[in-house]
Amino acid sequence: MAYETIIVETHGKVGIITLNRPKALNALNSEVLKELLAASQAFDADPEIGAIVLTGSEKAFAAGADIKEMQSKTYVDMYLEDFFSGWEAFTRVRKPVIGAVAGYALGGGCELAMMCDFIIAADTAKFGQPEITLGVMPGMGGSQRLTRFVGKSKAMDMCLTGRMMDAAEAERSGLVSRVVPAGELLDEALKAAAKIASLSLPAVIMTKEAVNRSYETTLSEGLRFERRVFHSMFALEDQKEGMAAFSEKRAPNFKNR
Ligand code: CAA
Repeated sequence: MAYETIIVETHGKVGIITLNRPKALNALNSEVLKELLAASQAFDADPEIGAIVLTGSEKAFAAGADIKEMQSKTYVDMYLEDFFSGWEAFTRVRKPVIGAVAGYALGGGCELAMMCDFIIAADTAKFGQPEITLGVMPGMGGSQRLTRFVGKSKAMDMCLTGRMMDAAEAERSGLVSRVVPAGELLDEALKAAAKIASLSLPAVIMTKEAVNRSYETTLSEGLRFERRVFHSMFALEDQKEGMAAFSEKRAPNFKNR
């Protein structure tokens, strides 16, 4: 498929999706959504791919949902289109997705980064939910995911004032997993993704599912779910191989990777 708003590449077993609307600072419109879903679902189905990196440009991961596309819509348009609901499909990608964020990740850009499994940020990254300054509020998960990630006080501060958070504050607050120099962002993200892609794919997908479950359920249900999935892993050949390799002091040779 030929893409117009994203660039799709592979690096070994890692799929790379780069948002590519430079003139609009990668603002997220319906075309970006359509193409991002097609590319991520294709990587998800591709047995040669074990992990995905989603990135933008040096200046902007994405400066938000496309304001110009939304501007003239009415309440009825938004309601009947169930506007933004399409993004949920991105969170159903089963293989790990690492967000590699440099520059602006604002509004829908911040929300898209939070839909990734974890975020590696360049020291130039700036996160924010400035929708309030447009007379609206986050609509792609910001009021919910940001609150779960950084806590109520900081989420309220971000959503109510629209201020930006720099990379250091984002790391301190738990929004991003690590901060790296801007010039090393893609390399670091690819290194992490390649590590994941070298491991047992079923174990990786089960682990992602278990961590995500912690956001959806109570602690006791989550713990029960974790134990059941952990037990089921003993049906994997990769469990036998991983533990045998440890005992024999050698590198594991996972079958499903
Ligand atoms: N939608 C549409 N176009 C956008 C955009 C957006 N979110 N963000 C930037 N652009 C466009 C600008 O209109 C401009 O286009 P033109 O050259 O045609 O005028 C181009 O990208 C470059 O932008 P600037 O000239 O503004 O660049 P800057 O360096 O001066 O400023 C910025 C950068 C601070 C990020 C500024 O562009 C900005 O404030 N952007 C909007 C941020 C925002 O409000 N995001 C939230 C959007 S609403 C949302 O996301 C809802 C939701 O919950 C999902």
